[in-house]
Amino acid sequence: MTQPELSIELTGLGMKNPVILAAGILGTTGASLKRIAGSGVGAVITKSIGTIPEKGHPNPSLVALECGLLNAMGLPNPSYKEFNDELATAKEGDVPVIVSIFGSHPDEFSEIIEGLEGADAFELNLSCPHSQQYGAAVGTDPVLVEKITKAAKTTASVPIWVKLTPNVTDIVTIGEAASRGGADAVVAINTIRSMAIDIHSGYPILGNLYGGLSGAAIRPVAVKCVYDLYRALDIPVIGVGGVSKWEDAVEMMMAGASAVQIGSAIYDNFTIFSEISEALFTFLKSRDLNLGDIIGIAHKKVKQ
Ligand code: DHB
Repeated sequence: MTQPELSIELTGLGMKNPVILAAGILGTTGASLKRIAGSGVGAVITKSIGTIPEKGHPNPSLVALECGLLNAMGLPNPSYKEFNDELATAKEGDVPVIVSIFGSHPDEFSEIIEGLEGADAFELNLSCPHSQQYGAAVGTDPVLVEKITKAAKTTASVPIWVKLTPNVTDIVTIGEAASRGGADAVVAINTIRSMAIDIHSGYPILGNLYGGLSGAAIRPVAVKCVYDLYRALDIPVIGVGGVSKWEDAVEMMMAGASAVQIGSAIYDNFTIFSEISEALFTFLKSRDLNLGDIIGIAHKKVKQ
């Protein structure tokens, strides 16, 4: 029996395993990214960075619900102009650092990419669920998605991943637009638009009224989106949404994910990355399989 190989090459980036820190969680400072880098991840992704400093939405900006986390941070970030030092610190962590970026116009994405030094790849946040001008406001329009991806791809000398919103009728149409624009990979899914109300006062809880749901509740939605995108596209699909156990990672890969991102689950468990990749190794070894044997296997089990 040979040992399974967990290391992968994803859009040209070498990673020691396919388990990645998702954007938005612990990704604002170089120090926190470096700390995560030492916890067994394959790569880390920053909080989304824009063209100008943003304070974010008023509190409360995060609510822990029984079924997951609901947040509307408001894309708080120091702007790309103030992020290069953080990026340099994050890079000391010795795993690829992917910078999540947002904007409302193709030129803004190009400006950010030109202004940042040392990113190993960029993940375009075309999927924040509650912004008037960013994220899903542009990511639900296939024409804009293609234009933004093309602009980013033309400007960058590193891979471009496009993070898609599930808040559309057909995510495949958007994935195809990203692919036409030259995306090296798509990432599915970002959070699902949602809200919570305090029944004692009657007030909506979030300062922004509504936000994005993440965590276990959205995992089956993510699995379906990954499954559909894998079937339709020729570029890698990276799965994200509610993964908190090794079994969830295996399921996401069986749907077609080449790698898996983890976000909300860190809230409860900081050692999750090494736990999941070790358990993935044990699972593959017990069945004499490699990662390539399970990625997309669910498609082979059903008549197309
Ligand atoms: C925020 C951004 C996101 O991409 C998301 O899914 C949820 C919240 C934010 O910064 O508010």
